Amino acid sequence: MKRFIEIDPWKIIQNGFDEKNNEIYESLMSLGNGHMGMRGNLEENFTGNTLKGTYVAGVYYPDKTRVGWWKNGYPEYFAKVLNSTNLIGIDIKIDNVTVDLNKTLPIEFKRELDMQSGTLKRSFKLNINNKKFKIEVIRFLSMQAIELGAINYSITSLDNYADIEINSYLDGNVTNKDSNYDEYFWEEINTEDKLITLKTKKLDFKVTSSMGNVVNKDIDSELNSSSLYTSETFSYNLKKDETITLHKFITVVTNRDYNDYELNSKAKENIKNAINLGFDSLLKNHIQAWIDIWASSDILIEGDDVAQQGIRFNIFHLMQTYHGHDARLNIGPKGFTGEKYGGSTYWDTEAYCLPFYLSTSDKNVSKNLLEYRYKHLDRAIENAQKLGLDGALYPMVTMNGEECHNEWEITFEEIHRNGAIAYAIYNYINYTGDIDYLNTKGLNVLIEIAKFWADRVHYSENKKQYVMHGVTGPNEYENNINNNWYTSKIAIWTMKYAIESMEYVKETDLNSYNELLNKIKFNENETVKWQDIIDNMYFGYDKEKGIFLQQDGYLDKEQLLVSDIPENELPLVHNWSWDKILRSPFIKQADVLQGMFLFEDEFTHTEMKNNFDYYEPRTVHESSLSPCIYSIIAGDIGYEEKAYELYLRTSRLDLENYNSDTEDGLHITSMAGTWMSIIYGFGRFRIKNNKITLNPFTPENWNSYSFKILFRDNLLSVTVKKEEIEILLEKGTNFDILVYNKEYKIDSNSPLIVKIK
Ligand code: BGC
Repeated sequence: MKRFIEIDPWKIIQNGFDEKNNEIYESLMSLGNGHMGMRGNLEENFTGNTLKGTYVAGVYYPDKTRVGWWKNGYPEYFAKVLNSTNLIGIDIKIDNVTVDLNKTLPIEFKRELDMQSGTLKRSFKLNINNKKFKIEVIRFLSMQAIELGAINYSITSLDNYADIEINSYLDGNVTNKDSNYDEYFWEEINTEDKLITLKTKKLDFKVTSSMGNVVNKDIDSELNSSSLYTSETFSYNLKKDETITLHKFITVVTNRDYNDYELNSKAKENIKNAINLGFDSLLKNHIQAWIDIWASSDILIEGDDVAQQGIRFNIFHLMQTYHGHDARLNIGPKGFTGEKYGGSTYWDTEAYCLPFYLSTSDKNVSKNLLEYRYKHLDRAIENAQKLGLDGALYPMVTMNGEECHNEWEITFEEIHRNGAIAYAIYNYINYTGDIDYLNTKGLNVLIEIAKFWADRVHYSENKKQYVMHGVTGPNEYENNINNNWYTSKIAIWTMKYAIESMEYVKETDLNSYNELLNKIKFNENETVKWQDIIDNMYFGYDKEKGIFLQQDGYLDKEQLLVSDIPENELPLVHNWSWDKILRSPFIKQADVLQGMFLFEDEFTHTEMKNNFDYYEPRTVHESSLSPCIYSIIAGDIGYEEKAYELYLRTSRLDLENYNSDTEDGLHITSMAGTWMSIIYGFGRFRIKNNKITLNPFTPENWNSYSFKILFRDNLLSVTVKKEEIEILLEKGTNFDILVYNKEYKIDSNSPLIVKIK
């Protein structure tokens, strides 16, 4: 296996320039701060392989849908995260030769993402006209002042005089690689010295980008501005061993946060403040913000740097992507690291990311994720209506609540996503204890989703049971199947939880209950039908194998195993026809196992084991969301080695480019799954009956691991060693905790120590 980067507990290090794989490195080295983000592109002019990308949170474009045959119910557009003004551009000329690492190969090239301090560093040497130069770059997007970023760019002449030209610029002439009609999505509003304001052609998002440049030499600069481009150029004759350093400050402000007329002045003010503060202080504040983030979210692994690097890489990118302070934002599967998936919201948020944010961030962050869907409820109701169904169907892919996806087998059929949104309400309340959320908003969402399920199933006279036809489960390598076990399971669970929640709200807050039922014109007698469905739903089961059937026809497929596939045919998605994939037994991602993970208490150890043993050897894990779930279940059934193997697969998915697609961007949402595979998998952390329960084990080659958990205003630090587990209450008050099913009281005076089982 080719390893792209060096192993280091805190750093992602590329040693040596690799033009061919440059796009992979650009993804790995992406920076973000919740407000904006960018791929790890080079500052200088570069004619080699590159995917340029600068993205601004919440700014998107409704790109007109493009499909083969139009089907009723398709959405009009697919939202696209927009590639916006290039902020980092710094062109260099040395003795009139333009620096282009594709043409002048660098010597001793090193690019390094330091995750502890959130900085991207680069250093290399160049030989131009037989003279040597050293270039060093530090870049960051401030986590403390999120509208700001900065670059420290320095050139040292190592052995002679040289004429240096540094051209720092902003370039608004950028396009998306992924555009349905090769359109330019922006309109220019204003370009002036060191500032560009663009407006999206549709939806009127306005984005102002501005820069400030400071060099360590007393020289004049030349300003140049034309349409969509503004630059500031510095020329200097550099002596031997002398260094010229440019500090480039960048800012992005949008009319999502300010009035249109304020944008220019706000951007200028930001740059002025940044220059006054200076690069070093801005960086210091940024590093402090990262110190605070790591203090409540780091996972420390002793004895295994490969695993250590993996988990920190995942936590780092999640924290760069979403802070949760703005309920209008969500977490796109690629975050700020690429265009794929349009930057939109998927079920990934509820099914994977929510548990991460529940345990590492203030509860309002998770609440904002719930609010996001609550605000989209009306659109979800319209979406169900478009399909001729009752209740609410949340979209598979969305920016503003409207469905963006336009493949019938996913848009109309991959409806299990609706259940994840209901489950998230349960998960949030179970974790935070904020049961009042039900009375205000949660119950409304639950009733509408339950109504949808009740309408989507039908009664089969033949089976004398309810069935659900024409669905696509989480395993997208089968479409239009009947009775996908997972979809039916989460549908029934939603109806049950909705009934229980109605009873709770009715009992505790009759006024809110009546008000809600009147508002949504819901007659509680409808739950009689729901109960009938709950009691009589069909679930495929094979007695002999002791497995739940992924769908009615699964066992009729040719029962091959992944080990039967020649290695050069993997990943299937790149090598097999879609037809061959659909007819094969190969499973893209956890499907039955996804359900067993969510509803684990309903299953015996043997049931878990039977299903894992059957489905895992048939799973190709070609969705990034897959290995983490299998890893958690492997840990649960005592397959500790397998759990570790799958942990490495999920945590290093992008670092090793396992799915051959890292160049498109990173798999941000599955990174939360990686986090779960340690906390929920190895730590066997759960919240049951308002209490934390832990049943940890330590992977064979780890000496110990420690993690932090935020639970209801308490911060716990858990260290699992070979012989014992140590739990420290870093913040908070006494409470009870279950370790290996035995109850202990934890207080802030001394750590709780329990022997490992
Ligand atoms: C997976 C979906 C997921 C989407 C975005 C697809 O490949 O099959 O489950 O929602 O990627 O991450």
